[in-house]
Amino acid sequence: MADKLEQVYINFQKELAGIKDLKSLQDFEVKYLGRKGELTIILRSISDLSPEEKKKIGEKANTLKNEMAGIITAKKSELEMEKYKELGESEKIDITTPYPRRVGHVHPISKIRKELEELFKSMGFMILDGPGLESDWYNFEALNISEHHPARDSQDTFYIADDPEWLLRTHTSPVQIRAMQKYGAPLRAIVPGYVFRNEATDASHDHTFYQIEGLMVDENISIANLIAVMKELLKGVYSKDVDVRLRPGYFPFVEPGFELDMKCLICGGKGCSVCKHVGWLEILGCGLVHPHVLESGGIDPKKYQGFAFGMGLERIIMMRYGIDDIRYFRSGDLRFLEQF
Ligand code: DAH
Repeated sequence: MADKLEQVYINFQKELAGIKDLKSLQDFEVKYLGRKGELTIILRSISDLSPEEKKKIGEKANTLKNEMAGIITAKKSELEMEKYKELGESEKIDITTPYPRRVGHVHPISKIRKELEELFKSMGFMILDGPGLESDWYNFEALNISEHHPARDSQDTFYIADDPEWLLRTHTSPVQIRAMQKYGAPLRAIVPGYVFRNEATDASHDHTFYQIEGLMVDENISIANLIAVMKELLKGVYSKDVDVRLRPGYFPFVEPGFELDMKCLICGGKGCSVCKHVGWLEILGCGLVHPHVLESGGIDPKKYQGFAFGMGLERIIMMRYGIDDIRYFRSGDLRFLEQF
């Protein structure tokens, strides 16, 4: 029996030298250690031996079995390593090879917003943020728009289903109140941010769009201050002096209220398709802050006055670049975005 074991081991070693791949190694393992393998058969026949021989041969056979299993495992990793090396050679990855990267673009809204933030900062304005989910009080009541006021109809509102006290802000004006409450007077702030309207979309309307609100509160503020700041604003956007005019406009939170127009930059005021042959383009709403609004913000209207304005950012960007549909801004269409 001992000789038999010896012979099996000699054959095992001889054959092992000729194994060059994992498949042959697998067959080899089965041949010696499998259920009907050469060593397994010997191990099974041990039970027929005398108790002494059983012990002696049994020990030897088990040691041999462990040794052979160890050798096979070592050979397996050796062959695997070789295989990976070969793969590495044929599919070599050169990590220094440059590959084409897509460079992202700053969205046109972010770009112009940043420019305007810098401009207003240089005039001493703070840049403020406010909540998109707003209360009825801040969005309407505090701005002098009471419950049955017709002005609510012009700002179709997304109300929160369970609680109509809450809504998606329809404009950035509620942050006027928040700013006055937090900082008091004197105050200079702009508020860039998204606003939401429950209305059908078309080339010039979207349910989600971007506004910039502005507020300046101080002693002796007049329409002259308003016009001066508006001209700076438009000069910042269009990189040249722009003629403006004020028309009366109704917004419950300002008195007097205005629509501010700028002279069409395309035709110089003569009339063209961009300005619909009027020579002027409607840019934003503005006015002197209504005393009720100052009071809502906790500011004494006898001591302080203010001007405010609110404009849709998309519109002025559309004019700057000749974009004819507001829906491009949030389309995620790279053909649009990559132009900026
Ligand atoms: N909040 C107004 C709107 O969304 C725009 C506006 C008009 C803002 C006049 C103002 C303002 O601050 O004075 O239609």
